[in-house]
Amino acid sequence: MPQITLTTLQSLKLKGEKITMLTCYDATFAHAACTAGVEVLLVGDSLGMVLQGHDSTLPVTVADMAYHVASVKRGNQGAFIVADLPFMAYSTCEQTLANCALLMQAGAHMVKLEGAAWLAESVRLLAERGIPACVHLGLTPQSVNILGGYKVQGRQDIQARQMRADAIALEQAGAAMLLLECVPVELAADIAQAVKIPVIGIGAGSAVDGQVLVLHDMLGLSLSGRMPRFVKNFMTGQPDIQGALGAYVTAVKAVEFPAPEHGFAS
Ligand code: KIV
Repeated sequence: MPQITLTTLQSLKLKGEKITMLTCYDATFAHAACTAGVEVLLVGDSLGMVLQGHDSTLPVTVADMAYHVASVKRGNQGAFIVADLPFMAYSTCEQTLANCALLMQAGAHMVKLEGAAWLAESVRLLAERGIPACVHLGLTPQSVNILGGYKVQGRQDIQARQMRADAIALEQAGAAMLLLECVPVELAADIAQAVKIPVIGIGAGSAVDGQVLVLHDMLGLSLSGRMPRFVKNFMTGQPDIQGALGAYVTAVKAVEFPAPEHGFAS
């Protein structure tokens, strides 16, 4: 696969071709995902749950993230690597810059921060220093204790208007990508239309610019035995993991995944 860059992702949005993203935490899966044609590898702090067995992403450290980013980089074959800044690793601008430096030096091409318009100053500082930022809106798992659980966000009018305004403010501040998690399908579509930067969805319907799933979820692996409604098990009908990764890429590109049953109404 030729090296995917931010320019590639922007041109996919312009062309209306869906972007394929999966979480990835090690070299072997990075290689397999690239072979299947996955364009963006997200080294997500979901590793705290799926690799480390915690019940939230809060215990994950910057050192954990840098270790997994470096592992993914070694197996990568041209995908664009996005790394999560973990819980409390971006509380001040100074801390944000120092931790982003560690993740970029480990091999990331972009960092992801969870929040809202309050991140605008950090996003601006990062852009000025050559670090593209993706902002994760909607259900932000690092705030699970404020949100009171893993729930759909933006169902009420006031919340929806705020999320749309936050998306626009973050684009203006220099954000290079947005990720919407568990957001009603109509709101996600509206946000993707309102900004020029790529908008990736997870539980946000098919009218956004690309899709992401947690690798273990789409392979049908779960510690709890429960799967969120927006997940599809791509192992079904496939002989092996490589087949499942390929089926995911094909389904996202064909806009067959997510189907209506994977989305949420307002
Ligand atoms: O950490 C992660 O894997 C994520 C996805 C849920 C999008 O942020």
